[in-house]
Amino acid sequence: MAGRIRKDDIEALKQRADIASVIADHTDLKKAGTRLKGLCPFHTEKTPSFTVDPVKGYYHCFGCGEGGDVYSFLMGVGGLDFTEAVEQLARRTGFELHYEDLSPGQRRALGERSRFVEINQRALDFFHERLLSDEGEVARTYLRDRGFGREEAEAFSLGYAPNDWERLSRALVSEGYDRRDLVRIGLAVDNKRGGLRDRFRGRLIFPVLDASGDPIGFGGRVLPGLDYGDFDPPKYYNSPETPLYRKQKVLYGIAESRAGMASTGEVLVCEGYTDVLALHQSGITNAVATCGTAVGAEHFRVLARYVNRVVLAFDADEAGVKAAERAATEAAAVDDEARTGSSSERFQVRVLGLEEGSDPADLVQRDGPVALREALTAAEPVTGFLVDAELDRADLSSDEGRATALRAAVRRLGDEPDPELRRVWARTRIADRLGVSTQWVARTAQRVGVTLDREDGVAAGVGLARRGGGQRGRLTATPPPEAALQRRVLRVALQEPDWLPEEWWELTGDDFTHPRARSIHDALTAAGGAGVPLEEVLAAAPDDDVRALVRAVALEVADPPDTPESAAGEVRALRERALVARVAELDERVRTVNASTDPEAFRALNAERFELEQQRRALRTARD
Ligand code: UTP
Ligand code: MN
Repeated sequence: MAGRIRKDDIEALKQRADIASVIADHTDLKKAGTRLKGLCPFHTEKTPSFTVDPVKGYYHCFGCGEGGDVYSFLMGVGGLDFTEAVEQLARRTGFELHYEDLSPGQRRALGERSRFVEINQRALDFFHERLLSDEGEVARTYLRDRGFGREEAEAFSLGYAPNDWERLSRALVSEGYDRRDLVRIGLAVDNKRGGLRDRFRGRLIFPVLDASGDPIGFGGRVLPGLDYGDFDPPKYYNSPETPLYRKQKVLYGIAESRAGMASTGEVLVCEGYTDVLALHQSGITNAVATCGTAVGAEHFRVLARYVNRVVLAFDADEAGVKAAERAATEAAAVDDEARTGSSSERFQVRVLGLEEGSDPADLVQRDGPVALREALTAAEPVTGFLVDAELDRADLSSDEGRATALRAAVRRLGDEPDPELRRVWARTRIADRLGVSTQWVARTAQRVGVTLDREDGVAAGVGLARRGGGQRGRLTATPPPEAALQRRVLRVALQEPDWLPEEWWELTGDDFTHPRARSIHDALTAAGGAGVPLEEVLAAAPDDDVRALVRAVALEVADPPDTPESAAGEVRALRERALVARVAELDERVRTVNASTDPEAFRALNAERFELEQQRRALRTARD
C-alpha cells in the first residue's frame, strides 16, 4: 500500500521527525562525536555497536548489519509495514498525512490502524481513569488483595470497566468516534435495539500493547463481589480477533519487557496476565504471557527479534507437557528460519520447573524473587523435560510399555543438539530410570537412528537433521539391507495395509528371503493376507517366537514415520529385487537349455525373462 500516502508528506515527515528520539524509546543512546551510540535493539549485545546519525537521519549496527532510516527502524522494531510505520510516526509527531487518489473506502482501510490505535488509546485512558476514581474502589481493593499497587497500575496502565452496559461506548461515541469502529476493534457489540453494548463490564482491565507500545486489545478479569446479572461470566474476556489484535501473535507485557529482554537476552513466557505483573513487580522484567492461547510459532517469531533464550513457565500437568511439545517443535522451526538470516546463535528453549497447579506468580509471591531466579537458572532444556515426560506417561509395568517408552524417550533425546547432554541423559534419565543398561539404550538409539555421541563414529547432529525435517537421521543413501527392507514392508502390511500398492499382492513368500520376515509373511498369508485383524495373524502364527515377532513389528514405531509414499516405494523396491532375482534365475536356466534341440523351452524362458524385465523397467520408472 506504500505510495498511497503523498510522497512529499513521507519526505517532509521524515525530515521533521527526530530519528534519535524515536530510537531512544527503544535503546539508550550516548553521544559519540557527531553520532550517537547504543545497544542494538535488533540483536543481543553487551557492547554498543549500534550507531545513529541524527543529522543524516539514518542508523546502522556494526554488529548485526541492520540499518536504514526512521521508517525502516519503526518497521523492524514494531513489526510494521511501511504504511503503518509512516502512520505511527505521523501520529507521534502530530503530522497530518494526506492520501492521494483514494476512494473513501481505501482511505478508510489505510488510516484504519491509526484510527483503531487511537480509539484503543482512548479506551485505555477511560478505563485507567475509572480505576483511579471512586467507582474503581472494587478493582483497587482486588489488586491490593493480590499484592499489587499503584506502581503496577501505572506501569501496565491497568483499568476498571464500570459494571454498566454502555459506559465506554457512550463516552466514545459522544467524543465523535465511529460506532462501527468500536465494534470492529472489539470494544463493543451491537445490541438488539440498534445501540451498542460494552464488551468489558465490571472487570479489571489489562490493556494489551504491541512491542512498540500501541494498545491493540484488552483483557478483562471478573471481580469478586460484583453482580453480573443472572449469568456466570468467564474469568477472563479477551479482545476478539481484530485487524490489530491477533491472538496467535500477541504477548502481554512485550512492550514493558523490551529493556529486560535486551539486557538478559532471555524471556520468560507465562500463561497469565497476573504472572507478568507479579514477575515485573519482583524485578523480573523480561516476562510476557500469551493471552488465552498456547505459545506458538507466531509468538516465537516475534520473540526472536529480541532474544535467543526462551523459558517456558508451564504447569507440570499433561496440558503443560503438550504445550511444551508444541512449543519445542515450533521454536525449532522458527529457529531454522532465523538461521537462514543473520542470526547465528541457536534459539534455546527451556522449561521452568513448577509444581503442579502453581504458576510463576504464586512462586514469586510466596517464595520471593530469589527463589524464582533460582528456578530460572535451573530451568532445563525442553528436550530433557520431554524425555522425562515420555517416561512419565508410559506404562512401565509391562515389557511392551517399557519398550515403547524406551524408543520414544530415545527419540526425544535425539532432538537435543548437545551430544554431551545426549550421552549423559541416556544414562541418567533413561537407563537408570528404566533399570536397563546404558548399552541397551545405545543399541535402541542406533536402531531408531539417533546418535548418542560423536564417538559413535557417526556424524554429529542427528538432532539438527531431525529438526530440519530433511534428512531425518538417516546417514547413508545406500540401499538398506534386505532384512530391514523386508521388515519395513511387513510393518506397513501389519500397521497400514491401506497404504500397500498393488505390487504387494505380487510378492510371494520366497521374496521374503530373510527367515524371520518369511515367517511373518507366512502367518499373514495364512490368516488371509494384509488387512486382517492382528489377532488373526497371531492365531495363524505357528509358535510363540513368531507371535512375538509379529507383535513386535505390528507395534514398532517407525522413525521416520511411514507414509503412503514411503510404503509404496519400499514395496516396489522389494518387488524389484524379487524380479531381479527371478531374472537372474532364468538366465541360469536359459544357459542350460540348448536352443537348437529344445527351441520351445528356450523361447518360453526368454519370453518369461523378457516379460519380467519389462515389469522391472516399469517399476523402476514408477519409483523414480
Ligand atoms: P489462569 O486461570 O491461570 O489465570 O489463566 P491467571 O492469569 O492465573 O489469573 P488469576 O491469577 O486467577 O487472576 C491463564 C490465562 O488464560 C487466559 C488469560 O489470558 C489468563 O491470564 N484465560 C483464562 C482466558 O483467556 N479466559 C479464561 O476464562 C481464563
Ligand atoms: Mn494462573
